Amino acid sequence: MLDLSLKTIVADRVLHAKWLNTLSYMENAGAKKISASEHKDHVNLIILKHAAEEHRHAYYLKKQIAKIDDSLCKTYTNAELLSPNHTKYYLHALDIAVCRYLKAEFNLSGYALKFAAYLFVTYAIEVRADELYPVYQAVLDDTKSRVNVKSIILEEEGHLEEMIKQLVEFSPDWECHAAEVVKIEKELFDNWVEALHAELPVHIPF
Ligand SMILES: [Fe+2]
Ligand SMILES: [Fe+2]
Repeated sequence: MLDLSLKTIVADRVLHAKWLNTLSYMENAGAKKISASEHKDHVNLIILKHAAEEHRHAYYLKKQIAKIDDSLCKTYTNAELLSPNHTKYYLHALDIAVCRYLKAEFNLSGYALKFAAYLFVTYAIEVRADELYPVYQAVLDDTKSRVNVKSIILEEEGHLEEMIKQLVEFSPDWECHAAEVVKIEKELFDNWVEALHAELPVHIPF
């Protein structure tokens, strides 16, 4: 379904600019979440690298908009995003649902809960990114678009590996918890895609 929507989006200048802006918004929100979950002293290279790269993704996607039309989507106001309400709700809702799950499963609180949520929420997002960006890049390739997200794809693959490394250290049965978190994410993502789909112009066949 997303594949079809992306073809419609990429074919339309304004929709495509809004799509890039929407991805940029999400990357920026993710970067801010990573920084917000930092310990006050125990900040390692992986966390700094990850936050820096997510910020770069937000910036890079915003810059790509100029390849379509540099007068579009200057900021993140609702009119410049696709399904803005769902877009702004997605990460926040994911974080809350995952915190609730981890609190119940591991009996965590305070910084320990914050850190566990960082691990699992980020893992689910990286799994999603590794699926979404290649599908989008394939549509860009098909349409010979000047926009490209190959550098993001490479970095997201690295992020997924880094999150797995940290999850292995966190819990020996991280995989079964990660599977639950991925389920939570999938429901939110599907709602987001549905909202996005509803916003696209309906093509009436002649
Ligand atoms: Fe990213
Ligand atoms: Fe990432």
